Amino acid sequence: MPLPLRTRLKWLGYAWQDVTSGNSEARVPPKRKTFIGGGDFIAVGDAFFGTLKRHGLTPEMDVLDVGCGQGRMARPMIDFLKGRYEGFDIDKSGIEWCQDQYKDVPNFTFHHADVFNARYNKTGTVAAKEFRFPFEKNSFDRIFLTSVFTHMFKGDLENYLSEIARVLKPGGKCLVTWFLLDEISRQSQHPVMNFAYEVDEVSRTTVKSNPEAAIAFDLDWVRGVYEKFGLKIEDIEHGKWGRPESVYDLQDMIIAAK
Ligand SMILES: C[S@@+](CC[C@H](N)C(=O)[O-])C[C@H]1O[C@@H](n2cnc3c(N)ncnc32)[C@H](O)[C@@H]1O
Repeated sequence: MPLPLRTRLKWLGYAWQDVTSGNSEARVPPKRKTFIGGGDFIAVGDAFFGTLKRHGLTPEMDVLDVGCGQGRMARPMIDFLKGRYEGFDIDKSGIEWCQDQYKDVPNFTFHHADVFNARYNKTGTVAAKEFRFPFEKNSFDRIFLTSVFTHMFKGDLENYLSEIARVLKPGGKCLVTWFLLDEISRQSQHPVMNFAYEVDEVSRTTVKSNPEAAIAFDLDWVRGVYEKFGLKIEDIEHGKWGRPESVYDLQDMIIAAK
């Protein structure tokens, strides 16, 4: 089936679900307007909120959500967080939607960053490897990125990890999801996450013509980058993509402290 027709049918399916589900919950985007991937918007956000609490999130903390998309991870926190939530993303429509949806939540702020990405912001004017986060050093107790480094290149995420290390408070933690290549996950038979194509010496992609669709990184190289920027890896939760028996989500997650 040609792609445009398949895309149109998918959209129609989503539009039908929007109409029939009657799901108009606050701060949940209509399914036909989501661009952050499949899965249940509410369930995925709630599960990650649980993960944040499991790793010590408390109400008075200040948090940064890098690549916040349409606020999937912000939504479950609004009645919990008394500290500051800051989210930024390169997709302007998502940020404008969040700014509107959260206009009555004074401690939640969303920013647009005009950073280039071939999948999410083709007209972006700033290179990800040069982008400086718009925050002072030592600003946040928790920084998280869900399904963001899985769409970025080596040089970009080295810069982002150095920025994370800069704006994280001493003792603060970052929780980042990845596709990590090690001796086990390299053997993965996952039907979609197969990372068949080499991008460079430390990363591989599922789509040769559009690598930013999904990128996996060599775990030993990733460990070296964390160490270089003074981030101490405390735990790695290996996801189902590379270990089908995993109790965790699809992607891997690294929890590190400054
Ligand atoms: C799969 S979506 C995930 C969104 C959100 N983190 C979530 O889990 O709901 C990937 C997001 O990363 C954002 N993104 C891609 N490159 C980025 C960059 N260099 N800086 C910030 N966000 C970026 C995209 O615009 C998109 O919103």
